[in-house]
Amino acid sequence: MVQTVFKLFSLIGFILKPLTIIQTKGSAQVSKIQGLKGRRVWDSRGCPTVEVDVILENGVRGRAIAPAGASRGAREALDLRDGGDSLRGKDVQTALNGIQTRIAPALIGINAQDQRGVDVAILALDNSELKEQLGGNATVAASLAVLHAAAADNGIPLWRHIANYFQSTPSIPLPEIQIFGGGAHAGRRVDIQDFMIMVPGATSFDEVMEITSEVYFAAGDLMKRKGRLAGVADEGGWWPVFDSNEEALETLVAAIKLAGEQPGERVVISLDIAASEFGKNGQYRLALEDRAMDSGQLIDMLGRWIDDYFIASIEDPVGEDDPEAMQEFQRRYGDQVQVVGDDYLVTNANLVKTAARENACNALLVKVNQAGTVTEAVDAFHAASEAGWQSIVSARSGETEDASISHLSTGLGSGQLKVGSFTRSERMVKWNECLRIQDEEDAPQFVGGLPLKNTWWGKKI
Ligand code: PGA
Ligand code: ZN
Repeated sequence: MVQTVFKLFSLIGFILKPLTIIQTKGSAQVSKIQGLKGRRVWDSRGCPTVEVDVILENGVRGRAIAPAGASRGAREALDLRDGGDSLRGKDVQTALNGIQTRIAPALIGINAQDQRGVDVAILALDNSELKEQLGGNATVAASLAVLHAAAADNGIPLWRHIANYFQSTPSIPLPEIQIFGGGAHAGRRVDIQDFMIMVPGATSFDEVMEITSEVYFAAGDLMKRKGRLAGVADEGGWWPVFDSNEEALETLVAAIKLAGEQPGERVVISLDIAASEFGKNGQYRLALEDRAMDSGQLIDMLGRWIDDYFIASIEDPVGEDDPEAMQEFQRRYGDQVQVVGDDYLVTNANLVKTAARENACNALLVKVNQAGTVTEAVDAFHAASEAGWQSIVSARSGETEDASISHLSTGLGSGQLKVGSFTRSERMVKWNECLRIQDEEDAPQFVGGLPLKNTWWGKKI
């Protein structure tokens, strides 16, 4: 049934796509860049970050802000930080200087409609592997700001511009929403990083918001009853005061029930293990339970969780340096759950292709700042689609009022969107932006569902 609905959406999209392309002013449009201005602004953790304004020759503007991760993949684009004593070494003056002295001169006069050309020009300035010369924070803000300016110059919403330029079929994504934070986002109070829900049984984005709100507050009530309410973690999920990682899962299941839902029917659980944060070279250590395990034991434990806790998606189940274990996990559970590569793939098309060849994942987490430019991130997304994978456009734990990723997820038709929890405006701005997109006259369809083969969820219906 779910598969059929998906096929139907794809078919409708296929028919509509030529129409949407006609709506753009297309390649004939020239929107020359007149200037770029970088500025230091502050993210949701109170850390400095980079904002870029792009101005076109006709006065049209675009703006974007770089987010920042805390549990970063070793191979992702580096944020350029000044180091030293002030602002805990996190100031971004060097990155801003690079925008003014290198990126701006290289982009002035280029057509903002040619996103790939813009990104190639940025890349040509920094031949280092991880963009450590310009900084991924500078390149991502510049690249995204140009995308905004081009959309504004076309007089169309950003999601529509993305769909037109990258020739994709837009859709409103299915959210993945954190209820408990953990790992690096909660002082490692528990080892697992994200305890999330998805509502693949919802019929609209609105309904997902409603159900999520009920589950979120039910979880808060449960914590309060146990005397364990202790505020929220970095992404707005409840602070995880638990004696074991399993207790967090049990509480999440209980919260879903308390919200009046039957786990596994409309609502399922999704985890980001972020295993690189507690393991290296195939050896892992769950600090909360003082338990050491090897890759095989970690995989066995996650397998038991899949059976016991209505889990439909698992991100980074093992370390980014443990490819054999990723393959083993995908081999054993890839038919039951979405196996998502985040730190493992760092939004890199080549790593996606390798992982697809090795059958190490079946889904990609897309973080534009891991890649460093819009084009590179979309290339990774395309590589994932070609492999027949799902994709989830994702925020970082350090975020701002920038809602570009809601448009990126919708415009590309990525299918899923992960932005953290259900409180805090740097998160809610992304969910609310999807609601606004949904209200537009020619809004795309809500994608719903979770198109997995042989999932327990699929079996039950
Ligand atoms: P980060 O983590 O933004 O702190 O790197 C988010 C994630 O792992 O998905
Ligand atoms: Zn992750």
